[in-house]
Amino acid sequence: MKFFIDTANLEQIREANALGVLDGVTTNPSLMAKEGIKGVENQHKHYIEICNIMDGDVSAEVIATNYEEMIKEGEELAALHPHIVVKVPCIEDGIKAIKYFNNKGIRTNCTLVFSAGQALLAAKAGATYVSPFVGRLDDICSDGVGLVAQIVELYQTYDYKTQVLAASIRNTLHILQCAKVGADVVTCPLSAIKGLLNHPLTNIGLEKFLSDYKKVNE
Ligand code: E4P
Repeated sequence: MKFFIDTANLEQIREANALGVLDGVTTNPSLMAKEGIKGVENQHKHYIEICNIMDGDVSAEVIATNYEEMIKEGEELAALHPHIVVKVPCIEDGIKAIKYFNNKGIRTNCTLVFSAGQALLAAKAGATYVSPFVGRLDDICSDGVGLVAQIVELYQTYDYKTQVLAASIRNTLHILQCAKVGADVVTCPLSAIKGLLNHPLTNIGLEKFLSDYKKVNE
């Protein structure tokens, strides 16, 4: 399973990359706004900076919601760097745009996916990734991980090549549950990736090893 980090924060991307387990980055307009990145030129520069930090896919989302503008924006984004994957919302014009990008060899991430039906259309259109939003479904008492499992099964049945990218991951349990049901990728905040490391017995055990070592070596 691949690990992506879900942020536009350069420091966090560097930190996750330094761990040696990072396979990619996902961003969205809210995450870009959180970093205070204003205007198309600055946004493009920021995407290029992200791409230069690590060797992996970087999702950059279109703002347009109609087909023609999505195509224009997506082509500009894709031309920025070979790592760029164009992120397209799962709406009617988005599905048409994904089909267009697929024919042109431009990779896509179909985002804001909340049902297996949407995921089916995304795969039919040739999306590289499909992003079911786990946490946002859990927020409304729906089963986010259950949706990931459904999509994985559906894609296996029909041998779709679209990769299931579990998004809106909020914690370590989400990561493990998505891994268990066979997600190809999880995109998560740095806190959740690092949270996988935490175990009090590791810390207690390490302290004991070091103090025993010191007893005879000092
Ligand atoms: C996916 O690619 C989105 O950027 C992201 O995972 C959304 O997460 P949120 O629901 O925590 O905002």
